[in-house]
Amino acid sequence: MTKDLDKPARTGGGPGHVAIIMDGNGRWAQSRGRPRLFGHHAGARRVREIVSACPDLGVKYLTIFAFSTENWKRTQSEVAGLMSLFRRYIMKEMQAFVKENVRVRFIGDRPRLDKKLRGLMDEAEAMTSGCTGTNLTIALNYGGRDEVSRATKRLAQDVAAGRLDPEKVDEETLPKYLDTCVLPDPDLVIRTSGEARISNFLLWQSAYAEYEFIDTLWPDFTAEKFDELLSHYGTRDRRFGAVSA
Ligand code: IPE
Ligand code: IPE
Ligand code: MG
Repeated sequence: MTKDLDKPARTGGGPGHVAIIMDGNGRWAQSRGRPRLFGHHAGARRVREIVSACPDLGVKYLTIFAFSTENWKRTQSEVAGLMSLFRRYIMKEMQAFVKENVRVRFIGDRPRLDKKLRGLMDEAEAMTSGCTGTNLTIALNYGGRDEVSRATKRLAQDVAAGRLDPEKVDEETLPKYLDTCVLPDPDLVIRTSGEARISNFLLWQSAYAEYEFIDTLWPDFTAEKFDELLSHYGTRDRRFGAVSA
C-alpha cells in the first residue's frame, strides 16, 4: 500500500478485530499452470502486507486461518508442503514481527502438529509476548467444533473436580475455555475466493460478526482491497438484536 502521510489512521468505528479465511491459493496456482504449493507460498507472502497495514487501518486484532482440522484430508504431499511452509514462515518472519511490534499467538489443536513446528510456535509467542501493537493470531490445525469440544472437556473436568459450579455456567463461561480466551470477538470476518461458507472457523466467536465474501483469491488480496472492505464495514448498522437508534 502506498503510504499517504497526510491520511490519518482510521480511528473509532472500524472493526477492531478482523478475521480472515485466506482461501483460493490452490486455484490461483492452478490458473497459472503451477502446483498448489506455489499458491500457498504466494499466499504466505501476502500475509506480511496485510499485517503491516493493520496499524494505519485501526485494526488492533487480526486472526488468520492458515490450516483447518479438515485440511489433513488433502494429499500427503500438500500437507507436508504446508507444514514445511509454516516452519519456514515462522523462522523467517519472527524478527520482522518483533520489529513491527506484532504480538503473535496461535490457536488450534497443537498436539497433532510436529514437534519442531510446535517449538517454533512457542518460540514465536514468547519472542513477541512483550509486543503491544497488532495482535496477530494464526489459526493452525484449527476447527471451531474441535475447539468447542476441547473447551467443553476441560469445563467438564473442572465441574467433576468441584472447581466449577454447573449452576453458574452461562454465556461467559465457555469463552474462558476457548483457545481465543484472551481475544475479543471478531467484528468482521472476510473470506476470499468466492466461497460463501465459514468452514468451521470461529463458530462461537463469530455469532455477531459481519461477513464479507469476496471473489479475490487470497494471493491477489492487497492492502488496498483490505482498506476498501474496512470502509464498507463502516457503513453497516450493527444492531445486535436491538432496534437502530
Ligand atoms: C487456502 O487455499 C489455504 C489452505 C486451506 C491451507 P486453498 O488451498 O484452499 O485454495 P483453493 O480453495 O483450493 O483454491
Ligand atoms: C478453509 O479453507 C481453511 C483455510 C483457509 C485454512 P478450505 O479451502 O479448507 O475450505 P473448504 O474445504 O472450501 O470448505
Ligand atoms: Mg480452499
